[in-house]
Amino acid sequence: MAAEAQPRLLVLLLAWPCLFVGSLACGAAAADLLHPVVLLPGYSCSQLDARLTHEFEPSTAPSCGARKGKGWFRLWKNYTALQEDPALVPCYAELLRLVYDPVAGDYRDVPGVETRVVAFGTTRGFGSDDPATKNTCMEKLVQALEGVGYREGENLFGAPYDFRYAPAPPGQASREFSRFLSKLRVLVEQASERNGNMPVILVTHSLGGINANVFLSRSPLAWRRRYVKHFVMVSTGAGGGVFLLQFGGSKPPSPPPTDPLSFPKLNFATAFSALPSPKVFGHAPLVVTRAKNYSAYDIPEYLKANGFSDDEVARYVTRVLPVTLRFGAPGVPVTCINGIGVATVERLVYWDGDFGAKPQVVYGDGDGAINIASMLALDTLIGAQPEQDYFKSILIHNTSHGGTISDDFALRRVVKEVLDPNGNSMNDVNKKQQC
Ligand SMILES: *[C@@H]1O[C@H](CO)[C@@H](O)[C@H](O)[C@H]1NC(C)=O
Ligand SMILES: *[C@@H]1O[C@H](CO)[C@@H](O)[C@H](O)[C@H]1NC(C)=O
Ligand SMILES: *[C@@H]1O[C@H](CO)[C@@H](O)[C@H](O)[C@H]1NC(C)=O
Repeated sequence: MAAEAQPRLLVLLLAWPCLFVGSLACGAAAADLLHPVVLLPGYSCSQLDARLTHEFEPSTAPSCGARKGKGWFRLWKNYTALQEDPALVPCYAELLRLVYDPVAGDYRDVPGVETRVVAFGTTRGFGSDDPATKNTCMEKLVQALEGVGYREGENLFGAPYDFRYAPAPPGQASREFSRFLSKLRVLVEQASERNGNMPVILVTHSLGGINANVFLSRSPLAWRRRYVKHFVMVSTGAGGGVFLLQFGGSKPPSPPPTDPLSFPKLNFATAFSALPSPKVFGHAPLVVTRAKNYSAYDIPEYLKANGFSDDEVARYVTRVLPVTLRFGAPGVPVTCINGIGVATVERLVYWDGDFGAKPQVVYGDGDGAINIASMLALDTLIGAQPEQDYFKSILIHNTSHGGTISDDFALRRVVKEVLDPNGNSMNDVNKKQQC
């Protein structure tokens, strides 16, 4: 891999046709030349099974306990079941909820609920029975990679994860996330060994990129150099997005949500994982009221004003924020691909300070979720770090957060980066400059 330092560059790729990405097939190589790919999908794009033990005490409706002792069933995402019986929605939210155990210092399932991630190691668990996930999860990317010769289980692997759990700072318990890191390490090693010991390419979307970056930062440098050729991080900023600061105050939502993940009080460890980072947004006013403005530094106070408990606010400060602030260079070749040119929440105005009201929104540039400030900060927080030899940032105009893995043009760009025979050679840099 890159032994000598490579120049860092920012490629602004506008939406004009580029000769080099005109055809998906142009870069197709014989399968034995393809570096193995491991995919990490975004939030909510992994499937979870659950089973209920006799310990489970339903609090929504007694029928929520109907599956006690009856084995595993699909908890997320079971679109068909919820379409057929909308009364199940609050029940599924109850089963998905996490509790924080202060003795263990960690999150876990509600007592009596056991959960497991479906089809780890494969990409089969990325899709659900909900047709909408085709555009928001990695199904089209999997098809595009298969279109250039990748084969599931041979050189194409998936690392689904339980998206309710987040990494904790070193020294704090995060059992489920640590288990995922161990499984991912074994998967990467096996993927390499099955492919003539070639190092792998990690391709991630959204929250998957944050998790992969934590994974790399916690792996020994020698391991990273041996096993990871290239980290293609799609739709992940260096410091989250302002839109996530909309909590709806402390009132229960009305009408009740039709999606279990939209229920309040789910207590997911990831609830605050992509809130705006002070490192990226600094003192900019993100939430404006008559009496007071809130910047990324004021998030603890803002959470309190939105009805979160002192314990929840403390967990943001001690568990989430330190991980957010550590986001940095993974020390392997990185290519970031993000969409821009889509109206993105940049500031929320709750003039009367009623956070349950509909805010007046000031829009700025971004991918509709992640702000451009968060994308540009990748250049400094990753690209400019001394341990980062190779870094490239590609911004695709007029492309949304999900569009990067579902629009044809963007998919071709992602596949091109995966196929790039050297990932980081000067030759390749020159080609991109011409284009
Ligand atoms: C969804 O739930 C229904 C009924 O609860 C069940 O029969 C079905 O197998 C589940 N879907 C999946 C994909 O497991
Ligand atoms: C809040 O921010 C806005 C926009 O930058 C500014 O005009 C206003 O003076 C600030 N208000 C307070 C109370 O600091
Ligand atoms: C942006 O993309 C949409 C949908 O793909 C298209 O209709 C529109 O013309 C594009 N706009 C620009 C400025 O390229």
